[in-house]
Amino acid sequence: MRFAVFKEISAGETRVALVPDAVKLLLKKKHSVLVESGAGLAAFIPDAEFEAAGAQIVPDAKQLASAADCFVQMRPLSHAEASILPEGKAVIGYLAPLRNPELVQLLAQRKLTSFSLDAIPRISRAQSMDILSSMATIAGYKAVLLAASHLPKFLPMLTTAAGTIRPAQGLILGAGVAGLQAIATARRLGAVVEAFDVRPAVKEQVQSLGAKFLEIPTAENLEDKGGYAKQVSAETLAKQQLLLTERLKVTDFVITTAQVPGKPAPRLITKEMVAVMKPGSVIVDLAAETGGNCELTKAGEVTNVNGVILLGPRNLPATMPLDASRMFARNVATFILEITNETGFTFDWKNEIFAETCITHNGEVTMKRRTT
Ligand code: NAI
Repeated sequence: MRFAVFKEISAGETRVALVPDAVKLLLKKKHSVLVESGAGLAAFIPDAEFEAAGAQIVPDAKQLASAADCFVQMRPLSHAEASILPEGKAVIGYLAPLRNPELVQLLAQRKLTSFSLDAIPRISRAQSMDILSSMATIAGYKAVLLAASHLPKFLPMLTTAAGTIRPAQGLILGAGVAGLQAIATARRLGAVVEAFDVRPAVKEQVQSLGAKFLEIPTAENLEDKGGYAKQVSAETLAKQQLLLTERLKVTDFVITTAQVPGKPAPRLITKEMVAVMKPGSVIVDLAAETGGNCELTKAGEVTNVNGVILLGPRNLPATMPLDASRMFARNVATFILEITNETGFTFDWKNEIFAETCITHNGEVTMKRRTT
C-alpha cells in the first residue's frame, strides 16, 4: 500500500506521524511511503532523511492526497483536510472520535476507512502499538521537569559549604503510565516521592520505583475487569481528600494524572485543599484538558493562587517532538503491519486490534467501543 504523511497543521503541533526508521519498516514489507515536503521539520527531521530512508517527498498536500492509499496523521483531521481526501481511501491517526463526532460522520460520508489509534486495546499484544502510553510517558517525564523549573527550591538533597539542602517532597496522584514515569523522573532528580492510586495493584510498582504508596482503606473494588480504575463513590472520594489534605500541607510539588476511561477527570484537589499548601509549591495537572484533577486548574495556563503555582499544560509531547515522533511512528508502523498484508488491509474483524480501532468503513460508522 502507499502510505502518506501530511505536514501537521493544527496549532502548536510539532510532531510528525512517521519518521525515517518507521519508513524503513514499512518498506521492508513492500509498502511505499510518501511524505509532504517539510512534514518533519518541526521535529528536526529534514526531507533528506526521509528520502535516504526510501520515502518519496511530495511538494504539497493536494498532490499527496491523490497519490496515496492511506494517510497517517498525528492529530484529528480538520474538516478541510478530511474533505480533500478522495473517497475510498484510508486514514490512520489519533482521531479522538468521541470528541469529534462531526469528523466521524464526515469520514463515513466520504467512504473513508479510518482507524483511531486511541482505541488500541490495552492488551499485551498491542502494547507496542499503544500511542497513548507512549505520549503519557513523555507527559509524566515533562511534568516533573516543569515542576522543577517552577519550584523555588532544589529537588535533590545537597550538601554544600552553605549548608545542607533538604530534598523536595513530591506527591504523584494516579500511578498509571504518566504517573509511574513521573515518579521515576522525580526520584532520578532526587526528590522524596509519595504516590496514590485507587488501584491497589500498583502499590508494588510504586514501591519498586522508590516511592511511598499512600493507602486509603476502602471496601469498594475500584478496578474493572480490564484493569482500569472505576469511578469512586462520593464517600471514598471524601476519605481520599481528607488524607490528601494532610499530605498537601508538607508537599512541595504535585503531579496529577488520575483518569477513569470515558469519564471526566476525577476531582481530587479542591480549592480548599490548595489553600492548605505552602506558598511556592507547584501543582502540574496533566488532566487539565479533560476537566482537571484540581478544581482551580486552567487548561493551557500557569496561574498563581495565593503563592501556589498551578500548571495545566496541553500537548506536552509536542514539546519533545523528536522522541515523541519516534515513539508515535514506531507504534503506528507496528500497527500498520498488524492490520495489513501484501494486498491491503486484512479486514480481519476477529482481530480485536483491527475491529476496535476501525471507526468508519464503506460509508458506515463501525466504531465499537469507548475511545477518548
Ligand atoms: P492511565 O489510565 O494509565 O492512568 C491513570 C491512573 O489514574 C490509573 O492508574 C487510575 O487507577 C488512576 N485513578 C483513577 N481515578 C483515581 C482517583 N480517584 N484517585 C487516584 N487515582 C485514580 O492514564 P495515563 O495514560 O497515565 O494518562 C494520565 C493523564 O495524563 C490523562 O488524563 C491523560 O489525558 C493525560 N495526558 C496529558 C498529556 C498532556 O500533554 N497534558 C499528554 C498525555 C496524557
